[in-house]
Amino acid sequence: MCSHGGGRSSLFLSSIQQEKMPDRSVWVLALALALALPCAGQQYREEAERIMTTTPVIDGHNDLPWQLLKRFNNQLRVPTANLTLLNDTHTNIPKLRRGHVGGQSGKVASLMGVEGGHSIDSSLGVLRTFYRLGVRYMTLTHNCNTPWADNWLVDTKEEKPVHHGLSAFGKTVVEEMNRLGMIVDLAHVSVDTMKVVLNISKAPVIFSHSSAYALCAHRRNVPDDVLQLVASTGSLVMVNFYNDYVTCKNTATLADVANHMDYVKKVAGAQSVGFGGDYDGVTRLPTGLEDVSTYPALVAELLARNWTEQEVKLALSENLLRVFSKVEEVKGTLQDTPAHETPIAFEELDGTCRTRYGYSNGSGTARLLPAALALPLALALRLSLLS
Ligand SMILES: *[C@@H]1O[C@H](CO)[C@@H](O)[C@H](O)[C@H]1NC(C)=O
Ligand SMILES: *[C@@H]1O[C@H](CO)[C@@H](O)[C@H](O)[C@H]1NC(C)=O
Ligand SMILES: *[C@@H]1O[C@H](CO)[C@@H](O)[C@H](O)[C@H]1NC(C)=O
Ligand SMILES: *[C@@H]1O[C@H](CO)[C@@H](O)[C@H](O)[C@H]1NC(C)=O
Ligand SMILES: [Zn+2]
Repeated sequence: MCSHGGGRSSLFLSSIQQEKMPDRSVWVLALALALALPCAGQQYREEAERIMTTTPVIDGHNDLPWQLLKRFNNQLRVPTANLTLLNDTHTNIPKLRRGHVGGQSGKVASLMGVEGGHSIDSSLGVLRTFYRLGVRYMTLTHNCNTPWADNWLVDTKEEKPVHHGLSAFGKTVVEEMNRLGMIVDLAHVSVDTMKVVLNISKAPVIFSHSSAYALCAHRRNVPDDVLQLVASTGSLVMVNFYNDYVTCKNTATLADVANHMDYVKKVAGAQSVGFGGDYDGVTRLPTGLEDVSTYPALVAELLARNWTEQEVKLALSENLLRVFSKVEEVKGTLQDTPAHETPIAFEELDGTCRTRYGYSNGSGTARLLPAALALPLALALRLSLLS
């Protein structure tokens, strides 16, 4: 039964009656629609809230730390750098709560990722140190080729391909991530890099914030042949909400994002799709998905499109938890494998794709994006599942 739909439907009916007396069959149709439409919407919304109470969303990518870098230059002791009080970001604690972003014990948890392999400065020792600091995924590139992996801009021809995927050292980085139990993230890499990694990684991988290329031919998105490899390796595409990747235009709606989720589900299966909003990392978001409080509206839309409760739960968090468990399992099988020690060859080092060491508007050498080192607050997780 719908408690809130009634008022609106009776207004709708009385305006129809005043405008023109419809014949009886039209009137009956109008009555059915007026009662059914808000009612169904309300039911899906309630169902979404119910599901998300026990299965909160684990989103693959949130750039709130980039906002903290831009606003406070990472100097977080100032009283205004307070995640409850922040009021002009997509993300803050009250919005996370309204959006059923992962948490229990009254806490919202998050998993740290490194967005961009340049952050390890071609050092396996730094990679291992990141793991010990708690980093559990790394995006192999951001928006520049590292000395060992090509990024998506080689597919737009804005950069020249160097490795046609990964160099030998790049393959070592992936092997070391498998050994450590760090999830490999293929958002931002070139299509060749996607294919090489999906072939060599011993564990499934994620695309933490990428959408479907078939629906919007943007090179940050995932093409169909790669979606097949995602399916066959048990990997995961977490759909990005950024308007430009969703519709290839400045504008988009919640339904457009649902189209991407439907598409990945159709091509790669419900076990291959997730949410990768990219909140606080983008300037334009779809109508209906303005900030992190809006996930339940998208879940309601998927339910309206006949996604089963189980499929919705897979997308909300179970797929990511499956990948993460598998990554841990692979780590377990590799415990007798020694750490890689051979450094990158000196002549392969290239100084142009590097971090700015925390200076949000400094004149660092990193190309194309302000905060080349980003530790996205990502993959909000139920704490109990982290162990
Ligand atoms: C937003 O936060 C800032 C800094 O804490 C505060 O000065 C401002 O009054 C807040 N604005 C609103 C609308 O709450
Ligand atoms: C952040 O703001 C909230 C609400 O005013 C307050 O309860 C909390 O103590 C603040 N946190 C810190 C670390 O100051
Ligand atoms: C996948 O890797 C194997 C060797 O491990 C190689 O023989 C094969 O050509 C690779 N396939 C692709 C598509 O790269
Ligand atoms: C959902 O299923 C219902 C009942 O089988 C059907 O009438 C409706 O067209 C379906 N909607 C979509 C979007 O597939
Ligand atoms: Zn990104």
